[in-house]
Amino acid sequence: MARKTTHKIQLMKEKGQKIVMLTAYDAPTAKILSECGVDIILVGDSVGNSLLGYESTIPVTLDDVIHHCAAVKRGGPKSLIVGDMPFMSYKVSIEQALENCGRMLQEGGAEAVKIEGAGRVLPTVEAIVDAGIPVMGHIGLTPQSIFELGGYRVQGRTADKAEVLVEQAKQLESAGAFSLVIELVPTETAKLITEAVNIPTIGIGAGPHCDGQVLVLWDMLGLFEEFKPKFVKKYADIRSVIVNAVREYSDDVRQGKFPDADHSFEMSEEESGRLYGRIKPNDN
Ligand code: KIV
Repeated sequence: MARKTTHKIQLMKEKGQKIVMLTAYDAPTAKILSECGVDIILVGDSVGNSLLGYESTIPVTLDDVIHHCAAVKRGGPKSLIVGDMPFMSYKVSIEQALENCGRMLQEGGAEAVKIEGAGRVLPTVEAIVDAGIPVMGHIGLTPQSIFELGGYRVQGRTADKAEVLVEQAKQLESAGAFSLVIELVPTETAKLITEAVNIPTIGIGAGPHCDGQVLVLWDMLGLFEEFKPKFVKKYADIRSVIVNAVREYSDDVRQGKFPDADHSFEMSEEESGRLYGRIKPNDN
């Protein structure tokens, strides 16, 4: 696969080619996703729920995302790498946002950043784009505002609320965003937004009419038993694969079946003869 750039992602919308985006947080997974031709790897703040054991994305720090982004970069993917700017890493001031987005590119190796929200963050998006850093917007359900939104609820369910989202999408496009994640909105709302802007929309829980789709990798691979939102399709049952492998390994160890000769190292017969000739059993 040729290296993906924001320019190529834009061309995909123009040609009507669907964009494939998934999250990754480590080098080997990033390598696999790239080999499978995934267009965009998002190093999401979902690392908080997926890997770090948090209940939400709020506790995730900039250093956390940079750490995982750098690992993804070391995996050498040809997919476009987008670093997710975590809670409060871009809202204090435009200066703070510029400094932190700069770190995401310099230390994390990201090629673009993702920023949640519209309204108040529009001048920030403009300043980041002005600094030469591509920005992916994120509207609809924005998990970093979960306390303000009052829970993980579908957004833009009424005609009026859908129109607000369309307006936000247009404003983000005008501010220079190169693409837009639309999370947890009705199919009709996402379709309206997708038709209203020229930049690619990437949906999660937003129906089939977006220009691309994103899922959190561990959700679609079935790592979590307790997490089953309607919009996640489980493409594998990795949890069962891990459980079965760990149980088999534990049984083998307990029964002395592992390691066997195939998984152990031996001396040459000559050396072992010398060793046992010199050292008597129970000799310390
Ligand atoms: O952090 C993340 O993984 C995300 C996706 C759900 C879009 O923001």
